Order: sequence, then structure tokens, then C-alpha cells
Amino acid sequence: MSRITIAIDGYSSCGKSTLAKALAAKLNYAYIDSGAMYRCVTLYCLRKGLINNKQFIPEEIIACLPDIKLSFKFNPFTKTSETFLNGENVEKEIRSMEIAANVSKISTIKEVRQHMVAIQREFGIHKGVVMDGRDIGSHVFPHAELKLFMTADIETRVNRRMDELNSKGQHVEFQEVKMNLEQRDYDDTHRKESPLTKAKNAIVLDNTDLNKEEQLEYVLRLINDQLLTRD
Ligand code: DC
Repeated sequence: MSRITIAIDGYSSCGKSTLAKALAAKLNYAYIDSGAMYRCVTLYCLRKGLINNKQFIPEEIIACLPDIKLSFKFNPFTKTSETFLNGENVEKEIRSMEIAANVSKISTIKEVRQHMVAIQREFGIHKGVVMDGRDIGSHVFPHAELKLFMTADIETRVNRRMDELNSKGQHVEFQEVKMNLEQRDYDDTHRKESPLTKAKNAIVLDNTDLNKEEQLEYVLRLINDQLLTRD
């Protein structure tokens, strides 16, 4: 069967990366976490002292873009793809609350988005890729054969994010996580440059009441139908 492009968009913490990783593993596709790329830019700028109290000068951040090299490597032990910033494994660091508190603002910068989108299209050039984010089906790969728009109710999403952070030893309060998710959803859907929106032909997947196995099974069936009608 021919390889396709799978674009997964949706709100923060609704399980996009869990689904994307499972699909990539099952189909032997590459998995690209586009959110990790915006998180890396944010980490780089925080380390350089270019962001203070969520305040920054866009021109200073734009000037850094050529110095930021991003890559993903599959870790055979954890069986997931990990994010590298200029050759350093930053997979753990980019998931912190400090990064989460700043990343949506950084991702509003037009030039940052253009730079990331160019890299993302490069990653997807040969198809056989699952990419998750906010503008993948609507902007990065508008011709993706399968587009999903994921959502889940806010309590479920907060609990999932807390479980994820707690499992990494980061102890956080429900309210803090809830406020961060709501703020990011607001910022992501209201920004001027390619805001989070359901692409025209995307399939909505509300996974509030689905477990990981059920949602994977559902999407694999969709892919099968998609491929059967193409081949
Ligand atoms: O998927 P994530 O939570 O790791 O993404 C972090 C932030 O990056 C998210 O709040 C908005 C931004 N982002 C974006 O603007 N466009 C994407 N394609 C992916 C993420």
C-alpha cells in the first residue's frame, strides 16, 4: 500500500502525540512532533535570556533562528522519537511548565512559524509521516491524505497532562495546569498567523471516552478505508 501523510491537529493535551506515536510505530512511519520544535525555539531563547516574564523582542528571536538546529532521533530503549536542539537531547527539558508558559507567545511570531513550516515540509517530503501540531492539516500539509482534529473535555486533558508531568517527577497543581491549557488554547486559536482551526476536510476525534487502544483502532480503520479507496 502507498504511504500517506497523516496530519493531527487539536487542543493542548488531548493525546495527539500519544496517537501519532502509536500510528507511526504501527505503520512504520516517521513521527514528527511539531510542538517540540516551537518548544525548542522557546528553550533556546530562554537560555539566551531573550524572554523575561513572557516579554521578548521578536527581532532578537528572529535573528537567532539560523543558529537553532532541530532534529529527532528514535530511541530504541524508550521506543519513541526524541528531540535534539543543536545536537543536545532536550526531550525532558522542553516539557517543563516554564516552556509551556512561554511557547504559545513565541509561536505567534510570523518568521518563527515560516521557519518551522519550511523544516516540517522538508521532514514530510517523502510521505510516510505522522505529524501533530496546530496547523498541520490546515497549513503545513493541506493535501495530507488523512487529517484529524482532536479534542477532549478540559478536565480529562488536565488530568492527562498532570499524569504526564507527575510521571516525570514534576509536581504541579490542577489549577495551574488548567490555566495553562486554557491560556494556550486561547492563544493558539486566536493568533493571526495560522491559528489552530479544524481543516476543511479533517475528521473530528473527541477521545474523552476513548482509551488509547480504542482510538488507535478507530484511526487505523480510517486509514485502511482511505487507502482502499485510493489504491
Ligand atoms: O503540542 P505542544 O503542546 O507541544 O505545542 C506547544 C505549543 O507550540 C502550542 O501551545 C502552540 C505551538 N504550536 C504551534 O503553534 N503550531 C504547531 N504546529 C505546534 C505547536
